[in-house]
Amino acid sequence: MQDEADDPPSAVPPPPEEALESGGGGRRTVFVALGAAAGLAGLTAGCATPPLSAAANPSVPGAPAPRGRLEGQSVLVTGAARGIGRAVCLAAAREGADVLGFDIAGPASRHVGNAPATPADLAETGRLVQSLGRRFLAVQGDVRSRPALARAVDQAVGAFGKLDGVVANAGIMVPDGLAEVSDEGWRDVVDINLTGTANTFRAAIPAMSARRRGRMVAIASVLGRMGAPIAPQYNASKWGVIGLVKSAAMELGGRGIAVNAVSPTGVNTTLLRNPRQYAAVTPRFVPGRVPEAVAATASRNLHPLGVPWVEPEDVASVVVFLLSDEARYVSGASFDVTAGLGAIYTA
Ligand SMILES: NC(=O)c1ccc[n+]([C@@H]2O[C@H](COP(=O)([O-])OP(=O)(O)OC[C@H]3O[C@@H](n4cnc5c(N)ncnc54)[C@H](O)[C@@H]3O)[C@@H](O)[C@H]2O)c1
Repeated sequence: MQDEADDPPSAVPPPPEEALESGGGGRRTVFVALGAAAGLAGLTAGCATPPLSAAANPSVPGAPAPRGRLEGQSVLVTGAARGIGRAVCLAAAREGADVLGFDIAGPASRHVGNAPATPADLAETGRLVQSLGRRFLAVQGDVRSRPALARAVDQAVGAFGKLDGVVANAGIMVPDGLAEVSDEGWRDVVDINLTGTANTFRAAIPAMSARRRGRMVAIASVLGRMGAPIAPQYNASKWGVIGLVKSAAMELGGRGIAVNAVSPTGVNTTLLRNPRQYAAVTPRFVPGRVPEAVAATASRNLHPLGVPWVEPEDVASVVVFLLSDEARYVSGASFDVTAGLGAIYTA
């Protein structure tokens, strides 16, 4: 187990002299002069701004052997039992992180269209993480409970020595229109998708602030960036997640915490691939009676890259980037994984 003292916050390099120059012409001159002075010597003897990691630039002479991009880190992932959450756990473990997987592993709302995840699903995520040589802690809990998340953070810090990243991924879809959604269905979506994300972030703030280092990632949705005639409670919750991410990024930056969102289009998971959801993407059809092939064609036609949906791993790779030092100055952003659908936004 790594001790906090062994792992100080990554040093922020001083601004290059070029950045201190105010005038346009002088700026260029200083930049060119610096470049010439650094030259080949900089490449062999070490640059003023070192590579982010050996993994980022393993060909630098004398660099240590490449390591995973999250080597020695620990990450808490909600909704870890299956789908995108499981893919994030595995991608993080593959890059060297220990993982705490948090999941309700049972029914979250009686209004969703898909079957609930099970404790066996969560255990399977753990088995797969451990098969990659990393540690895994399974915690069964509900993101609607901030105390449950606070306890999970304590468990992660107790087991792994620190908490480097949290991924607020747990979420549900209730595919009902505004005219028919029940009060309970509306509340379940907003409480889990939006308040659950805030609860996850809030639970991690003390541990991350103490080390002045942390990375928070929320799984929003393309439906958090554009309107759609289905499931307004889902859209509203995901727009809210992006607003939360941007505000948290501004508030928490001074504590060394970066906060970002990933906004996928439809993803190949049970949340998307179930009959009630098919009816929602092709609303002229009778709920529960839309063949998957019809829904897939309708969905494929929405995506410039010509796929009906993306894979959980396509989302996980962007999450890993945002957890890694390669993204050390990325904060307050929403990254699309939309197979081109996001090109429809106005800006
Ligand atoms: N699948 C898609 O098409 C898609 C697209 C965009 C965004 N998303 C978002 O990605 C995230 C993951 O979705 P997925 O597709 O992997 O779905 P999924 O249903 O396969 O997995 C969701 C996981 O979250 C867990 N969960 C649900 N409510 C919970 C709660 N209250 N507390 C703790 N855990 C809870 C579930 O048990 C499940 O394991 C969600 O936030 C979803 O809105 C999904």
